[in-house]
Amino acid sequence: MNSAFTRRQFLTTLTVAGSAIALGTLVGADDSTPAQIKWAPVGKASDFTAGTPKLVTLTADFGGEEVFVTKSAKGDLEAWSARCTHKGCNVAWHADVSQFVCPCHKGTFDATGAVVSGPPKKPLVALKTKVADNGDSFVEAPKPFVRPAPPLQ
Ligand code: FES
Repeated sequence: MNSAFTRRQFLTTLTVAGSAIALGTLVGADDSTPAQIKWAPVGKASDFTAGTPKLVTLTADFGGEEVFVTKSAKGDLEAWSARCTHKGCNVAWHADVSQFVCPCHKGTFDATGAVVSGPPKKPLVALKTKVADNGDSFVEAPKPFVRPAPPLQ
């Protein structure tokens, strides 16, 4: 065995190992499978009505995060994290304009969580929901908010 072959073998092994690790990371990064979701209870599905997002503070088990829960026109439960996607302040629902409004820099979002105005670039984070047979409802626990990095100067 000469040293060139050994180096080639080493590089091939390194490439295969790197690809395996990258694939494992990608597969592991998909945390949206139902088994990996942490479900936070938010009350009975009948507590929520279409067109009126209701603020729910999750228990300490879920960091006391605030979420908005409502129903679609078809009656499906919908939820969003209350954290503004700009710098993480909690938005409030303003029924008079049917928008979520952020108190920090006046970012606004429509009733679907889409950005209407202000500095936020991303919509409110939509959360999966589920309703048990007995009517208990749950939302996907929001992931911790990661403050965006400041722009490079
Ligand atoms: S934190 Fe909401 S607009 Fe800046």
